Amino acid sequence: MYARVDEQPDRSPERVALVTGANRGTGRAIAAELAEAGMQVWELNRNPSGSPTEIICDLSEPAELSAAITEVLQRVDRLDALVTNAVDRYFAPVADIDMQRWNAALTVNLTSIVATVQQTLPLLRRSQGSIVLMGSHAGTRFFESGLSYCATKAALKALCEVLLLEERPYGVRTSLVSPGAIANEDGDRSPMKMSTVSVAKVVRDLVLNPSDVAVGEIELRPASLGPPVVAGLDRLQSV
Ligand SMILES: NC(=O)c1ccc[n+]([C@@H]2O[C@H](COP(=O)([O-])OP(=O)(O)OC[C@H]3O[C@@H](n4cnc5c(N)ncnc54)[C@H](OP(=O)(O)O)[C@@H]3O)[C@@H](O)[C@H]2O)c1
Repeated sequence: MYARVDEQPDRSPERVALVTGANRGTGRAIAAELAEAGMQVWELNRNPSGSPTEIICDLSEPAELSAAITEVLQRVDRLDALVTNAVDRYFAPVADIDMQRWNAALTVNLTSIVATVQQTLPLLRRSQGSIVLMGSHAGTRFFESGLSYCATKAALKALCEVLLLEERPYGVRTSLVSPGAIANEDGDRSPMKMSTVSVAKVVRDLVLNPSDVAVGEIELRPASLGPPVVAGLDRLQSV
């Protein structure tokens, strides 16, 4: 369905990607897939992955983030893909929200993404590159105690649409990936979840798509579906 790396016209010099939160979970798998596809992958990690091309930074600290991106940009001569993957999951009922935790979650899940996009756009424009925003079903399916997660993931839909309008004239394509359950913890073999590697392959294909295609949004669900706790019309009893 998607172009593979060997169908891409521009393979030299080495293409470069930047991935946030790549020390574990889906981000680690995305970084590995992009590297496997021949890209040089830079990571912005709070805790180290051990990669020689990682910069340690806390995305909830704007000055740290800006300095980290500046360092990456000083060490690369091109940037072809940005994958914003890191997430701060803070769950609490609205009545109990701790505003410090709320602000941190909003900063990591939304503000840091806008800042990262803004700072990397000049290089992404130059390479006619792509941006992949990791969203979630939580951006369209809201739940109790999930406000900071749901609201920030919903906001990524707006960010994606605005970037598609503003940046396609400069050749930059943006995609929102909205997955359901991913087995992001090491050792999780749940058949009801997608593996990090499978999700990463979708991200890799988005990055490697032919340059005349912009995939606005992709929604991913685990292929297996267990019996629902509540089914049919009864689902409407607890909306
Ligand atoms: N897991 C799912 O079921 C699922 C479903 C739908 C969508 N998604 C989305 O897919 C993406 C990856 O999810 P995941 O479950 O694989 O993530 P994860 O395993 O929970 O890992 C989260 C990543 O974000 C990093 N991070 C969190 N706060 C940070 C901060 N302040 N500064 C820098 N890095 C920070 C973490 O770093 P540390 O190791 O330092 O904490 C870690 O690398 C997320 O955008 C998530 O919303 C996940």
